[in-house]
Amino acid sequence: MNGTPAYRVAPGADISEDATIGDGSSVWHLAQIREGARLGENCVIGRGAYIGSGVTMGDGCKVQNHALVYEPAQLADGVFVGPAAVFTNDHFPRAVNPDLTPKSAADWEPVGVTCETGASIGARAVCVAPVTIGAWAMVAAGATVVKDVPPHALVAGVPARRLAWVGRSGQKLVPASDGTDAWVCPATGEWYVPDDSTGGLLLASSPLADAPRPAPLDDPDTPDDQDGPTA
Ligand SMILES: CC(C)(COP(=O)(O)OP(=O)(O)OC[C@H]1O[C@@H](n2cnc3c(N)ncnc32)[C@H](O)[C@@H]1OP(=O)(O)O)[C@@H](O)C(=O)NCCC(=O)NCCS
Repeated sequence: MNGTPAYRVAPGADISEDATIGDGSSVWHLAQIREGARLGENCVIGRGAYIGSGVTMGDGCKVQNHALVYEPAQLADGVFVGPAAVFTNDHFPRAVNPDLTPKSAADWEPVGVTCETGASIGARAVCVAPVTIGAWAMVAAGATVVKDVPPHALVAGVPARRLAWVGRSGQKLVPASDGTDAWVCPATGEWYVPDDSTGGLLLASSPLADAPRPAPLDDPDTPDDQDGPTA
């Protein structure tokens, strides 16, 4: 770090001399950013968060209070890591070797969590490396992720399983009303289609003025015979 940093650092934050932090970022109290970590622009690192050595992060990421991002995690642009979430890096952890000598860095091979663009990790979720959280996927609070999450999947539970699909806005997608296997975001009108290469969804089109509207969401409070006024 040379010259005046173009990012904000709160008192008590511990940032390695060797870390790189993009302009417009903020690092809050007691956060630790280890040597060789590289953060993009406009990132926010919350109080007490840990960013391991060599971790890379794109622009606009948010790591909430007390989240633990162990190396060699890689975060693309716009990734959200909720409070107290943990990214592990040792699949079969041991403090010592069989002869009770302390394990050194050479005695184990770190594995990392990869988060693709726009992915969100809920509060206190655990991502067990090696695992990839696909683009714009969402991990529920408290989930334990043990296998790859496809793009746009919403996963929850222990172990995490897919509950639904979500769009870029974070809203759950609804089936398209045209009978195809497409999905539509009720908030933005964006269309998504299955992507065989990832097992997830892919953005197909942004809203068009004459695009068919999404199927209405089921409303358990509305009886079937009260669908509203007719012409
Ligand atoms: C996963 C999440 C997005 C689902 O929201 P939702 O669609 O409004 O959820 P619903 O209340 O409709 O629940 C749908 C089902 O998922 C279950 N569910 C919801 N959240 C869950 C969670 N975190 N873990 C396990 N199951 C969950 C519900 O019990 C329900 O199951 P059921 O159909 O068997 O009754 C939300 O619960 C969540 O965890 N958001 C992340 C919050 C967070 O960590 N924010 C970080 C910043 S503080």
